[in-house]
This record gives sequence, structure tokens and C-alpha cells, in this order.
Amino acid sequence: MAHFPEGFLWGGATAANQCEGAWKTDGKGESVEDHLTGGAVDRPRTYTRVIDPDTYYPSHESVDFYGHYAEDIKLFGEMGMKIFRTSINWSRLYPVGDEDEPNQAGVEFYRSMFQCCKDNGIEPLVTISHYEIPWGLCEKYNGWADRRVIDFYLNYCRTIFTEYQGLVKYWLTFNEINMLQNGGLGSFIAGGIMPKEDVVPMGLAPTDDPDELNTIYTALHHQFVASAKAVKLAHEICPDYMVGCMIGGGPSIYPYTCAPADVLGTQKKLQIGTWLCSDVQCRGAYPGYAKRFFADNGITIPMEPGDEEALREGTVDMYTYSYYMTNCYSADPNVTQNGGNMVMGVPNPYLKKSDWGWAIDPDGLRWSLNEVWDRYQLPIMVVENGFGAIDERGEDGKFHDDYRIDYFRAHIQAMDEALADGVNLIAYTTWGCIDIVSAGTGEMKKRYGYIYVDKDNDGNGDLHREPKDSYYWYQKVIASNGEDLA
Ligand code: BG6
Repeated sequence: MAHFPEGFLWGGATAANQCEGAWKTDGKGESVEDHLTGGAVDRPRTYTRVIDPDTYYPSHESVDFYGHYAEDIKLFGEMGMKIFRTSINWSRLYPVGDEDEPNQAGVEFYRSMFQCCKDNGIEPLVTISHYEIPWGLCEKYNGWADRRVIDFYLNYCRTIFTEYQGLVKYWLTFNEINMLQNGGLGSFIAGGIMPKEDVVPMGLAPTDDPDELNTIYTALHHQFVASAKAVKLAHEICPDYMVGCMIGGGPSIYPYTCAPADVLGTQKKLQIGTWLCSDVQCRGAYPGYAKRFFADNGITIPMEPGDEEALREGTVDMYTYSYYMTNCYSADPNVTQNGGNMVMGVPNPYLKKSDWGWAIDPDGLRWSLNEVWDRYQLPIMVVENGFGAIDERGEDGKFHDDYRIDYFRAHIQAMDEALADGVNLIAYTTWGCIDIVSAGTGEMKKRYGYIYVDKDNDGNGDLHREPKDSYYWYQKVIASNGEDLA
């Protein structure tokens, strides 16, 4: 007997910048993502300050969800999805980012799209900022490094909280807010911090340069204040709104060995890379270990009068996170580090990996759910989980993605165990429920979907949609509320 409660929110997830395309349609401005080319598992994406007309930028057309949303949401509805996580492309509403009034065509697009979800029996779950900060805010303000961006964000929040009242109940303030700490690609897409060169390959570039660290933690502080004020604003506009933080990976690092240096080092990694953000967002203040980290690294947080109060008053209603894999930490510099994709870590010899080097670890999901629940006692949503793989047609011309079904089955079983452990898990939205552009590599070939989209890495394809075997499998899972995983 499975432990998923009645009303459990089964669903899928995407992000506007990875699925919508229509990058300049109906008054949309450019976003950070629009300045990134494609890459591969062994080749980072390239940032170009000026858009080169002869270069392919995957977000410009993506899978044209903008033009196909009615068809896609109908397929989600027929699959039985209860909740659909997507984001609003901020620059569709505020093309530069600092305007007072929104672009009405953008407002109407999302109204129609959310209404379409409702018409198909699906609750929207909306990420307010998912790697798509308006380009104008980067160029003019260096993104979140400038405090004025807090007010631009809150202006945008006021618009969407007001316009979509009655259509949207669940909101997430920032996708994977902790990614901003990672430097390079992380600080660009999550924080809008401008790269120094005009054309540069964008890997993750963890830094110990005090100036860069100060910029990063200043931007992060501004996001914390913005998030807290957005939570308060949301509740003022509609007391029923549920607003969550969204943490990349959740707690997902193991010590490589039981050497005390590995165990302590892992604890530090988790504190700074994972818990810092959620401690501020769930508990309303910077934790003690963060103060020590800042002091040790010459970081000064630009705390202004009223900020501490804002953080205290704007704690989130729920904890949400993405979970794909676990990594290990070793204090020994001679142990191999691998760059899985957007995350670095030491490979775990006990786990198998995807073609992109992401370790498959369902037990880690159960472990992380217990850790989060013990720490915060807030409702939890797993808002990303999935298996990026190369899908090829079988002899009958169809997509038999058993490997994806196996991945989901094991992770759903792990969630079931966590529910039996007493964890208050309320939703599961699997990543890339329809094939979309990869955030880490910009590829189409790294597919996550239950639904295939005819589009390749170079932009070829007629964009037609086609359910894979996993589509019919997930349909059964949802219909049986997690009972039938066969
Ligand atoms: C998360 C992001 O980090 O992982 C998504 O929130 C992203 O935007 C997802 O797509 C999977 O990563 P990738 O690189 O396989 O697209």
C-alpha cells in the first residue's frame, strides 16, 4: 500500500526560458538566457554580449511552448497531471526590467496559459524568476548586485500577484537561489551578474576572489530581501497564496570517506551551498555559520536598516527543491573531481551515472527529504527530478524510454518511503515533462520529457509532439496515486 496522501500533487515542470521561445514576440525583451549559445557535456555554453546573427541561441525558438501551449497542456491534462510548474519570463512583462508598467501582451499571454491549465484540471505552480532576468537589468545595473533591482522585482511581483489572483495559488520566488553562489554561469543566469568579457565560455567558476565573492553575496542578499518582501506582499494581496523557496539540489552531498576531514568538509559544503539560503528563507535570519564564512572570506553583507526585519517577516510557506543526484566531498586534493554538469563533486563509486555524468541515487532523495523535514517542518515539494537521456526511436518508430521509467519508479518508491518516515511531502513535479532545452548545456539531445518534441541541437525539426512510453506509464502512476508503478 503506497503512502501518497489523497490530493497529492503529481505533475511536471518546465521553465519559460527553456521552453517558450518567441524571444522577441509581442514586445518581449531579451533575457540572460537569450545570450547563451548551445554547448555539450564536454563543452561549456558561450556567452555573447552582442547577439550574433550567424550563431544559434537555443532559447530563441526553444520548443515554441509560446505557440504550442494549448496542445501541450491538453496532453498534460490527458496524462492526469494535477500541477504544472512553469515560470514567467520576466522580460515578457517588463522588457527592460525597470519600467513602471507591464507590457500588456505579456500579461495576457500568461493569463491565457494559466486559464488553459485550469481548464485542463491543472494547478499552475509559478516560478517568478527562473534563470531569465531581463537583459536590460544586467546591462544597466549588473543584475542583482544593484539594490534597485529589489524594487523592480517587487513591482513585477505586484503585477503578477494581482493579475493572476484566482488562477495561481503556488509561487516560488527564485529558482535554485543557491546557484548564484557558484560563479560563472551560475551567477550570470541566477543573478544577472555580467561576465567580464564580451564573449566567454560559461562553466561554473567557483571563486575565492574577495571582490567577486562580495558581488555574489551582495546579489544574494538582495535576492533574500526581495524574496522576503515578495512573500509578505503575496500574503497581503491574497492570504491563500503559498510561496516557497527553491533550492538547487537540496542537501545532496555525502562525505567521500569517513575521514573526519571529509565529514566536516561535507558539513561546511552543505551549510554554505545548501542550508544558508533555506535557513534565511525559512527561518528569517542569517545563520551563525554564515557569519563565520563571511568573516573568513572578507565578505561584507550590505545589510540596510529594515532588512533584518524584512527577512524575519517574509519567511516562506514551503520548502521546494530540485533533486537529480548526489555528489561526494573529499578533503583530499588528489581525489578526482568531476564536473557533473551544473554541479561539481567527487564521483560516488557505488552509483551508476547518466550519459551526462549525473549519479542516479533514489536513496539520496529519501535521505534529503528526511533532512529537510527534520530541519524546517514545512510542507515540501520536489519540483524537479528526472533523467536527461538520448532518446532514439525503436524499430516500430516509437520511443521506448524504459530507462526513464526505471529512474522515476525508483525515485517515486523513495518518496513513498519518505512519506512513511513521516515527511510532509505534498507535490512532485518531474523536470522537463515535455522535451526542452537543457539549462546546463543548451542541448535538445539531453531529453527529460514524457513527450518528445521534434527538434535537434542545431535547431532543426518540425516541433511536432509525440508521447513516449513514459507518458502512458506516468498516467497510470497518477491514476493510481502512486500505487501502480509496474
Ligand atoms: C536545474 C534547473 O538546475 O536543473 C533547470 O533548475 C535545469 O533549469 C535542470 O534544466 C536540469 O539541468 P540540465 O542542465 O540538464 O538542463
